[in-house]
Formats: sequence, structure tokens, C-alpha cells
Amino acid sequence: MTGGRAPTPLLLLLLLLLCELSLASRVPPETKAVFIGEELENITIPCSNTSVSRGLVSWYRNEPEATFLLSSETTLPSESHYSLVNASSLHITGLGLQDEGNYTCREVLNETLGDHLEHRVQLLVASGPTQIDINISPTGIHPNGSLFVARGSQVTFNCSSSSYPPAVVEWSFQQSGSSSEPFGVNNETFSYFVLHNMSPTLQGNYTCLATNTLSKRVQKETSELLVYYPPWSAPQCWAETAAMGSMLQLICRWSGGYPDPVFLWTEEPGNLILGNSSLGVETLNRSQLSDGKKFKCIGNHIVGSGMTGANCVVQINGPTLQSEPMKTCFLGGNVTLTCEVSGANPAAKISWLRNLSQSGEEILPSPHYLIMHKDSVSTLTILNCSQGVDEGYYVCRAENPVRVREVDIWLTVKKPLNIGGIVGAVVILLLLGMGTVSGFILYYSPNICLKGKNYLVFSRVSPKEA
Ligand SMILES: *[C@@H]1O[C@H](CO)[C@@H](O)[C@H](O)[C@H]1NC(C)=O
Ligand SMILES: *[C@@H]1O[C@H](CO)[C@@H](O)[C@H](O)[C@H]1NC(C)=O
Ligand SMILES: *[C@@H]1O[C@H](CO)[C@@H](O)[C@H](O)[C@H]1NC(C)=O
Ligand SMILES: *[C@@H]1O[C@H](CO)[C@@H](O)[C@H](O)[C@H]1NC(C)=O
Ligand SMILES: *[C@@H]1O[C@H](CO)[C@@H](O)[C@H](O)[C@H]1NC(C)=O
Ligand SMILES: *[C@@H]1O[C@H](CO)[C@@H](O)[C@H](O)[C@H]1NC(C)=O
Ligand SMILES: *[C@@H]1O[C@H](CO)[C@@H](O)[C@H](O)[C@H]1NC(C)=O
Ligand SMILES: *[C@@H]1O[C@H](CO)[C@@H](O)[C@H](O)[C@H]1NC(C)=O
Ligand SMILES: *[C@@H]1O[C@H](CO)[C@@H](O)[C@H](O)[C@H]1NC(C)=O
Ligand SMILES: *[C@@H]1O[C@H](CO)[C@@H](O)[C@H](O)[C@H]1NC(C)=O
Ligand SMILES: *[C@@H]1O[C@H](CO)[C@@H](O)[C@H](O)[C@H]1NC(C)=O
Ligand SMILES: *[C@@H]1O[C@H](CO)[C@@H](O)[C@H](O)[C@H]1NC(C)=O
Repeated sequence: MTGGRAPTPLLLLLLLLLCELSLASRVPPETKAVFIGEELENITIPCSNTSVSRGLVSWYRNEPEATFLLSSETTLPSESHYSLVNASSLHITGLGLQDEGNYTCREVLNETLGDHLEHRVQLLVASGPTQIDINISPTGIHPNGSLFVARGSQVTFNCSSSSYPPAVVEWSFQQSGSSSEPFGVNNETFSYFVLHNMSPTLQGNYTCLATNTLSKRVQKETSELLVYYPPWSAPQCWAETAAMGSMLQLICRWSGGYPDPVFLWTEEPGNLILGNSSLGVETLNRSQLSDGKKFKCIGNHIVGSGMTGANCVVQINGPTLQSEPMKTCFLGGNVTLTCEVSGANPAAKISWLRNLSQSGEEILPSPHYLIMHKDSVSTLTILNCSQGVDEGYYVCRAENPVRVREVDIWLTVKKPLNIGGIVGAVVILLLLGMGTVSGFILYYSPNICLKGKNYLVFSRVSPKEA
């Protein structure tokens, strides 16, 4: 440098400035650019921002030491992943992370003058993310990939991806019917957090989004997380009559949980399995029923397994009947026959029959017959009894799918007695009796008559007053 010969600082400064300018004119501004490629992709790096070259172009790799790669005059083996495009741009196929580095492109403008341009290019190679690993645990998994947890449990969320440079990982949460929102710790190269006490409001789709900071390549993965809870109360079961009384339905309900439980009906004892369904209903025909038989329903909930006492028992019974065996009706009057059913499960259907023929025919309500069912009691009122039509056997029948029970009631129709006649006869008999007694007393003890006149007068008068 000429700076050494200049004694004054001002001159030194001026010379430095000149030197800079002269250098700039000989080696025009060195262009420096950054190119970003992705692993396994192809990239074309232009030598300069002008696509058309002005002279011979050669490419060098700067690290670890300046290495000549190629020029428009070299012929490369076909397997080389370097090539020249338009005699100036460096084309690299199948980029690898090892291709990352600094390159120099040398452009000879005039060979005789040794005039050339150098451009430095920095190549960055990004890799991934190709795959994201979501780990939500502990959870159960459905065949469709959806995860489920029990309400109140503690759940760990972990999201990671393999990427170079490490990707920024974000979680977002989308509840059914609402929009997605950021969730948990974000803007980190890993995302890990714990949710204590899972609640149904945390049910939804969890998406982990990984973004390569260099290539901006985004990869995301979504997991549906369902928050389940068993019913808190005990299952309820009962028996019902179905299909016109010929079948019995066992019904089991265990509500309040999510999702719906599965019911297993078994026959007791022996635990013979009748069915396993989410409906909880089993239909049995008469051949499978007997008086006093017990059936057990066991409720199974996906997150309530191991719950003890999630069952109920139904005992089926045929009806028992009670009634008076005989009844009397006065001609032209009304009579009510009563029949009481008990012990039936499922509830029995009560009907009244007139046992005229062998089969019996059901009595239907009419102006002559009044039928009423109240709780377990059924009454049949026959209005305006007539001897020929109404006297005879009546049948009260109680029926459920388990058994049929019948009781007979005999109805007698009587002519009403003459009440006036009965009263008259009683009075006459009484008077006769009185007279006889008085006669005896007078005959055997006349003194009484003298001493107790009033008594005698009274005893004579009293029947008349009565
Ligand atoms: C890269 O270039 C090669 C050959 O030039 C070609 O076969 C391949 O499909 C290209 N790859 C991509 C990802 O463009
Ligand atoms: C090329 O780059 C140089 C230096 O950076 C700049 O002066 C010039 O305008 C650029 N030309 C084009 C066509 O972009
Ligand atoms: C090569 O040159 C042609 C024509 O000048 C141009 O269209 C093309 O974009 C160039 N290719 C590259 C990789 O610069
Ligand atoms: C490329 O050059 C830049 C400075 O321009 C430097 O920071 C970087 O480390 C170099 N790359 C390599 C692979 O040496
Ligand atoms: C290079 O420079 C010399 C001297 O200035 C000139 O004669 C020659 O034509 C130039 N060559 C090219 C290819 O421009
Ligand atoms: C996956 O299966 C579960 C259980 O069968 C169901 O509740 C859920 O809706 C399903 N999810 C999707 C996205 O289909
Ligand atoms: C998250 O998952 C990654 C990959 O499976 C694992 O390396 C990392 O240890 C996990 N982090 C935590 C905190 O469990
Ligand atoms: C999760 O996303 C799927 C597909 O978009 C949707 O069918 C499902 O209902 C969502 N699950 C929840 C719990 O919102
Ligand atoms: C993530 O971090 C970058 C830089 O650290 C910042 O520019 C950006 O705003 C952040 N994004 C969020 C969503 O916090
Ligand atoms: C009944 O079904 C549930 C759910 O489908 C199953 O877990 C259980 O093992 C079944 N039980 C029997 C006895 O088949
Ligand atoms: C009653 O059920 C049993 C067992 O399910 C079956 O074998 C039988 O055929 C059924 N009988 C009638 C009359 O439906
Ligand atoms: C019989 O019952 C009917 C209807 O309740 C009533 O009108 C009628 O007076 C009753 N007859 C007798 C004799 O009690």
C-alpha cells in the first residue's frame, strides 16, 4: 500500500479512500446472496443477478478450502450432481445437508486484462419437517385413531418433529363448532405441556403445527381427543310386556355418561349371556321364562371399567289373585265383583270373563257391565241384575308373559225379601212373647201386681209405643 509513505493523517485518509475506490473499480462490488434449498430438491444458483453471462464462468466451493467445482469449459461425469445452466448458473440436483456452505462464482470479463468479477453465494439447506410425532398420553385409542381420556385425568401433550434447522412447534385447539385457537406453550422448537383435570370442554381436535424456520415448510398433525365420563348413578332395570303380551322385554338404562354404555344381560344363576348391546333391551319369549327367574344387567362403560356395582337385577313373577269366591246380587240391583292382583312383574293385564262356554268370553264394558282398574284392584259391576242372564260363574284373569292366573267367582241372583213383612212378623212374635211372660208372672206372683202397678202399666203400654 502507498499509505506507508504518507506522513500526515489527512493524507493517509485521502489515500485510503482513493485505494478503496481503485479496488472497487478493479473488482466491482462483490455480490453476496443467500439461497435456501431443501433436502432432495434441485436448486439453480445464478452467478449474478444478470442471467446472461459476460464471460467464462467458474464455480468454487469455499470451505473447507477453496475448491474448483466446474466451469463452462469442464465436462463433468454424468453422475455429478453439479451442472451449469446457461453457461453461468450452478445447478445442484438432489441437495443434501452437506451442500450447505459458501460458493464463489468467478466471472472472467477480459482474459487478457485479467479482469474478473467474483460473486459469493451462501447456500442454506433446510430439511423437513417431514413427520410430526404427537404424543398425548395416557389415552385410549379408537380404531379410527381418535384418542380418549377419562374426565378428571392428567394428560401430557408432546409434539416433536425432525427438522433441520429445528422447527418451531405450535399447538392449536379446536372445539367442535368453534374456530381454532392457539393452545399451550408455543413458538418453541418443542412443545410439551400437561393438562391436569381434563374436562369435557377440553374435548376437541388438537393440531400440532411445525414450521421450518428456514424453508417455511409447514407440517401439521391433528388428533381428536374425546373426554369421556361414566354415569354417576347406578343402572336401572325393569321388565315390560311386549308384542301383545306374548313376549317379555328386559330393559336396562344407565344414563348420564358419555359415550353411551354397553349392557350385558345375563340369566341368573349361571350367568348365561342373553345379549350384549348398547340398547340395553333384550326380548324373551315365553319358553325362556319361569316364575321367580332372575336376570342381571351389567353396565359397561368405556372409562368406567372396573366400576363395581354397575349392575341391577330383575326378578320376574307371575301374578297372584285374590277374590271372594261367592257374591250375591238382588234381582234388579247392582253388584260389584272385586279381584286383587299381586306379585306380578311385569305388571299383569286383568280381564273379566263369563264362563258360559268352555273357552270363556271376555266381558267388555257396556251399559250392563262397568269395569274399573285401580292400582292392583279390578272391579266388575253388574248393573240391574237378572237371574237368568247374570247368575253363574265369573272369571277374573290376570296375565303377564310369565304366567296366567284365573279365579272363579260364583254369583247368585236373589229375589229381594219383603222388609215390611219381616218387621211385622217380628213385632207380632214379640207381643206374643210379652203376653205369655206377663200371664205367667200374674199367675204365680199376684203381689207383684199390687206393689208394682206402674211396672205392669208400663209393660203393657211399651209394645204399643214400639
Ligand atoms: C431434479 O433434477 C433431476 C434431473 O435433472 C430430475 O430428474 C428430478 O426430477 C428433479 N427433482 C426435483 C425435485 O425437481
Ligand atoms: C445486480 O446487482 C448489482 C449489485 O448488487 C446491482 O447494482 C444491479 O442493479 C443488479 N442488477 C439487476 C438487474 O438486478
Ligand atoms: C437460461 O436462459 C434462458 C434464455 O436466456 C432463460 O429463459 C432461462 O431462464 C435461463 N435459465 C436460468 C436457469 O437462468
Ligand atoms: C459462509 O459465510 C458466512 C459469512 O459470509 C459465514 O458466517 C458462514 O459460516 C460460512 N459458511 C460456512 C459453511 O463456512
Ligand atoms: C480485452 O481487453 C483488451 C485490451 O483493452 C481488448 O483489446 C480486448 O478486445 C478485450 N477483449 C474482449 C473479449 O473484450
Ligand atoms: C372415531 O371413533 C369414535 C368412536 O367410535 C367416534 O366417537 C368419533 O366420532 C370418531 N371420530 C372421527 C373423526 O370419525
Ligand atoms: C417428547 O417426544 C419426543 C419424541 O418422542 C421425546 O424425545 C421427548 O423426550 C418427549 N418429551 C417429553 C417431555 O416427554
Ligand atoms: C375433529 O375434526 C373432524 C374432522 O374435521 C370432525 O369430524 C370432528 O367432529 C372433530 N372433532 C371434534 C371433537 O370436534
Ligand atoms: C415467535 O417468535 C418470533 C421470534 O422469536 C417472533 O417474531 C414471533 O412474533 C413469535 N410468534 C408468536 C406467535 O409468538
Ligand atoms: C360386551 O361388549 C363390550 C363392548 O363391545 C365388550 O367390552 C365386552 O367384552 C362384551 N362382553 C361380553 C361378555 O361379550
Ligand atoms: C323362543 O326363543 C328361543 C330362544 O331364543 C327360540 O329357540 C325359540 O324358537 C323361540 N320360540 C318362539 C315361539 O319364538
Ligand atoms: C246401580 O248403579 C247405577 C249406576 O251407578 C245407578 O244409577 C243405580 O241407581 C244403581 N241401582 C241400585 C239399585 O243401586
